[in-house]
Amino acid sequence: MSKLSHAQWSSRLTFILAATGSAVGLGNIWKFPYMVGDSGGAAFVLIYLLCIALVGLPILVAEWLIGRRGQNNPANAMADLAKSAGQPRIWMIVGISGILGAFLILSFYSVIGGWSLYYTLSSVTGAFSGQDADGIGELFNGMLGNPGLLLLGHSVFMLLVIGIVARGVTKGLEGAVRTLMPALGVLLLVLVGYGMTTGHFGEALGFMFNPDFGALDGGVVLAAMGQAFFTLSLGMGIMMAYGSYLGKEVNLLKTARTVIILDTVVALVAGLAIFPIVFANGLDLDSGPGLIFVTLPLAFGNMGGGVILGLLFFLLLTFAALTSAISLLEPVVEFVEERTPLSRIGSTLVAGAATWALGIAALLAFNVWSDVLILGFNVFDFLDTLTSKYLLPLTGLFAIIFVGWLLDREGVRQELQLGDTGAKIWTLVSRFIAPLGVIVVFVSSL
Ligand code: PHE
Ligand code: NA
Repeated sequence: MSKLSHAQWSSRLTFILAATGSAVGLGNIWKFPYMVGDSGGAAFVLIYLLCIALVGLPILVAEWLIGRRGQNNPANAMADLAKSAGQPRIWMIVGISGILGAFLILSFYSVIGGWSLYYTLSSVTGAFSGQDADGIGELFNGMLGNPGLLLLGHSVFMLLVIGIVARGVTKGLEGAVRTLMPALGVLLLVLVGYGMTTGHFGEALGFMFNPDFGALDGGVVLAAMGQAFFTLSLGMGIMMAYGSYLGKEVNLLKTARTVIILDTVVALVAGLAIFPIVFANGLDLDSGPGLIFVTLPLAFGNMGGGVILGLLFFLLLTFAALTSAISLLEPVVEFVEERTPLSRIGSTLVAGAATWALGIAALLAFNVWSDVLILGFNVFDFLDTLTSKYLLPLTGLFAIIFVGWLLDREGVRQELQLGDTGAKIWTLVSRFIAPLGVIVVFVSSL
C-alpha cells in the first residue's frame, strides 16, 4: 500500500478478501473459544453477538467511510476531515492511538503465531498421535516452560511478517486468502464432525447457546465488547487505511455485512469444534490461551488421517494469523516511513524489530517473568487487556462519534445509499446506540 500512488482495490471482491484476511485470524480460532470458556459460555456469546451487530458493524462502516473520504493514512485522514468539519486537529489522535494499538497487539499476536508454527511442526513429527489429554497437556506446558522455543517461534513468525511487508507484496496475498480461508473453514468443519462423534456435542451446543445470565457481570460484558473490536480489527486505523483504497461505488453496508458474517461464522464454528473435546475429556473450560492447543491435538491424535489434517490445520491457522499480522504491521511501518527519512525496507525493519522486542517481554510472561505484574496482570495479559478492553473500544468510540455527530448527515446518508428508513436507523445507531453501548459497557465494568 504505497502512500504515493493512492491506488484503488480492483474490485469489491478484492477488498472483501483483504478485509477478511485482516479480520479472520487467531482472534476467531484461538481467542474467541477461550474467552467463551473463561466467561461461562452462552451469555458471553450472546453479548458478543449484540456487540458485533450494534457496535462493531456501525464502527466498521464508520472507519471505512473516514478512510475513503480522507484518502490518506488514518492520522492524516482524521486531521483533514476534522478540519473540513470545522473541528480541531486533535481528532488525529484517533489515528495515532490506533497505530499504537496495532503495535502493542502485534507484539503478543506474534507469540501465538509462534505457537501455531510449533504445532505445525509437532503434527508432522507425530507428537499428537495416540496421546491422551495428559500427554497433550504436557506437550503444551513443555512449550510454555521453554523460553528459547517460544522465542524461536515468535522470531520466525515475525520474520515472515517483516519479509512480506518489506517487500510490499501484501496485496499478492489476496489470491491466497481466497483459497486458503475456505480450506481452513473445511478443516474446522471436519473438527466439528469429530466433535459429533465424541457424544458431547449437545453439551457443547448448550454451553455456547443456552445462556445462564447468572454468569454475567460487568467484566464479562467488557470482555465481550473488547473481543468484538479485536476480531473485526477495529479501533486500530486498519480498516480506515483499507477504506482509503476503496472505490466510490462500493456499498459499505453490504460489504461490512459480508465481512462480519464470515468472521462471526468462523468464530462460532471454532467454538463448536473445541468444546465437544473439552467436555469429552473433562478438560477445564477456563484453560485460557492454551485452550485450542490442549484440545484440537487430541482430535488430530485420535482420528484417521490426523497427522496430515493436523499439519494442514496448523499451517492454515498460521497463514490466517499472518494475513492479520501483516495488516497490523502495515500501519506502524507507514507511520515510521512518513516521519523518518527511512526507506520502506528500513521502516519495516525498525517497526518489526520494535514489535519483536516487545513480544519477548510478552512470551517471558509464560515462564521466567510469570511473577512480573503490571497493575496485577502479567505482561502478556496486560498488553491484551490494555488494547482489547480499552484502547480499541475508546478509539472506535471516537470514530463513530465523529461520523455520527460531526460529519454532514446528508452526505453520509448518500454515501451509505440509505433510504428514509435506513437513514433514520443509521442516525439512531451511529449517534446513540453504538456510542452509548460502548460507554455503558465501560461504566458497568467499573
Ligand atoms: N482481527 C484479527 C483476528 O481476529 C486480529 C487483528 C486485530 C488483526 C487487530 C488486525 C488488527 O485475529
Ligand atoms: Na477476527
